[in-house]
Amino acid sequence: MFLAKTKEDLQQVLNSNKDKRIGLVPTMGALHEGHLSLIQKAKAETDFVVVSIFVNPKQFNDPKDLENYPSDLEGDLKKIQEFADCAFCPDINNVYPDDFKEKYFELDHLEEVMEGKHRKGHFQGVCNIVYILLDLVQPDKAYFGIKDYQQLAIIKHMSKVNFPQIEIVPCDIIREENGLAKSSRNLNLSRDEFEKASIIYKNLLEAREMIRSNKSIDQVKEIVQNNFQQENIQLEYFEITDSETLLPVDQKKSKSRGFIAAYVGNVRLIDNLELIE
Ligand code: PAF
Repeated sequence: MFLAKTKEDLQQVLNSNKDKRIGLVPTMGALHEGHLSLIQKAKAETDFVVVSIFVNPKQFNDPKDLENYPSDLEGDLKKIQEFADCAFCPDINNVYPDDFKEKYFELDHLEEVMEGKHRKGHFQGVCNIVYILLDLVQPDKAYFGIKDYQQLAIIKHMSKVNFPQIEIVPCDIIREENGLAKSSRNLNLSRDEFEKASIIYKNLLEAREMIRSNKSIDQVKEIVQNNFQQENIQLEYFEITDSETLLPVDQKKSKSRGFIAAYVGNVRLIDNLELIE
């Protein structure tokens, strides 16, 4: 595996692999089985896999969250060496030089709901780094997890406008045995919090059951909110939206998805599930 520490290193290695189908897996490190499943999918579908590892400060609306974001570059490189052809691990000055001009992306309502509403500026930060990576690597395919479903929708939108030739590939959520979606942030949970965090997926499953029986959207929302209250876990939001537009639905309709953001201790976790196909 080639280690590219700068954009220039990366350009060099890409130039010598011009004839290959390139797969890009953007990450912020602290890699887990979820990331590895993206990388393996990329390896199966393309000829040359680039994994970027860069904790992007521009997408953190909360400085404490950035400070606490787990990192283990050495461990990450070991985990991916079997599957990746190139690891791109630039430092901040290489990605954002002094004269860097932040781009503004038209994301319409997609950045006003759920994560966008609770994390101001987050998606502009995500789009800035993903734009830089797609532009640099010019992959045939780029891989993103469905766990960050709203991010995936936004990246699809941004990429369709700016890089219509690149295929954005959604990848399944990988879960812990207790149902908790794999996430780098899980590393910040204590043992007890880790167990408690299973409430998120349990409630998504329960919501799906209730929606499929005869409960209304309002009833389901109330029950889920009560479940979190009873367990003393801070539910930031539980939304049921159209799977395509991500706009809230107040009546049952096909292609609806449930989304949860909750704090377990100090750790903010998100998850989602298709409620009606
Ligand atoms: O999903 C992530 O890990 C990040 O948001 C991404 C896409 C790598 C951009 O920094």
